[in-house]
Amino acid sequence: QTLSLDPTSIEKGEYPHYMLKEIYEQPHAVQDTLDGRISPQNDEVIFKELEKYREYLSGVNKVFIVACGTSWHAGLVAEYLLERYARLSVEVDYAAEFRYRYPVLDNKTLVLTISQSGETADTIAAIGEAQSLGAKVLSIVNVPSSTIARNSNMVIYTYAGREIGVASTKAFTTQLVVLSLLTVYLGLLRRNLPADQAAVMLQDLKRVPNEISKIFTEVDNIKRIARAFHKHSNALYLGRGVGFPIALEGALKLKEISYIHAEGYSAAEMKHGPIALIDENMPTVVLAFKGRRYEKILGNIMEVKARKGKLIAVASASNDDITRVADEVIRIPDATESISAILAVVPLQILAYYIAVEKGCSVDQPRNLAKSVTVE
Ligand code: AGP
Repeated sequence: QTLSLDPTSIEKGEYPHYMLKEIYEQPHAVQDTLDGRISPQNDEVIFKELEKYREYLSGVNKVFIVACGTSWHAGLVAEYLLERYARLSVEVDYAAEFRYRYPVLDNKTLVLTISQSGETADTIAAIGEAQSLGAKVLSIVNVPSSTIARNSNMVIYTYAGREIGVASTKAFTTQLVVLSLLTVYLGLLRRNLPADQAAVMLQDLKRVPNEISKIFTEVDNIKRIARAFHKHSNALYLGRGVGFPIALEGALKLKEISYIHAEGYSAAEMKHGPIALIDENMPTVVLAFKGRRYEKILGNIMEVKARKGKLIAVASASNDDITRVADEVIRIPDATESISAILAVVPLQILAYYIAVEKGCSVDQPRNLAKSVTVE
């Protein structure tokens, strides 16, 4: 029978894997996560769930972001955003590290945890540790009434719908959308973010569903690149600024579902050692989207090319010069750096998916992995 393609259904429908369905659901998931949270005039972020904590949040002087895996990558993106636009001091840590170190917290520290499942054991334990040290906990969660949702002082939900594929896709992009909204919310609340800049950021966020949809026109190009690269046993993903956590996330996607050893790295750090790895057998994926670091990234790309490295660039539509240096180019729509971070992960999800399919891997249930790590 023809199964429903309703994004909220848990059927694969016409899709061969849940992961592919969930990649294509991202415009819908982002729209659902945005709905009702930006005022029509783009002058306010509406988080009713934070209403009674406004005074506390306006006095916070430190944010500790705690998460695991892909959610930890979302936290790394948030570090750049919260520091730049809300002028907050931010530290990001793996939940398993946070819970066993002696973090310096007090009643002006906000511990922000991020979790798709809301059942990750280390993140749950970190919440208890943070609260015992006097901090309040705000969690971004995709599963209503999950343990993390219930144990946190404040909860903001992503509305990605059920994510079945072990490799997280739509949960990650909706986490980035909530973190962007939270950045503007805190920036306005703390009077660090000018109203006109906030309005532009919110207007840009409203366009993300449509911008993600435009990326799907690159699927055939990405499939072709996947066919050419799927036999490699190693890969490097490079980025700078908010592109660095996206490089880490792209590498994790490839590792998880294709079992290819992929490493995400800060592009600037390559010359401090890792560039020794580069040769014709080490494909490099570089996040080269518009922004104040673009020229620097081009320089890093030249370093890779000089060593005969094969280079795949994820670049903004108007970055014409990238075609001179990259062997392959995957385009994303022009956007600001913070929006580009959300857009740039989509081609990396699709690339990892088609490489894993080429290798005949179990895309939705990769070996040794569980959807939620509920043990230490
Ligand atoms: C991501 O693709 C992985 N499935 C994994 O790293 C996951 O992000 C991590 O286990 C955290 O899970 P959570 O978001 O449910 O807490």
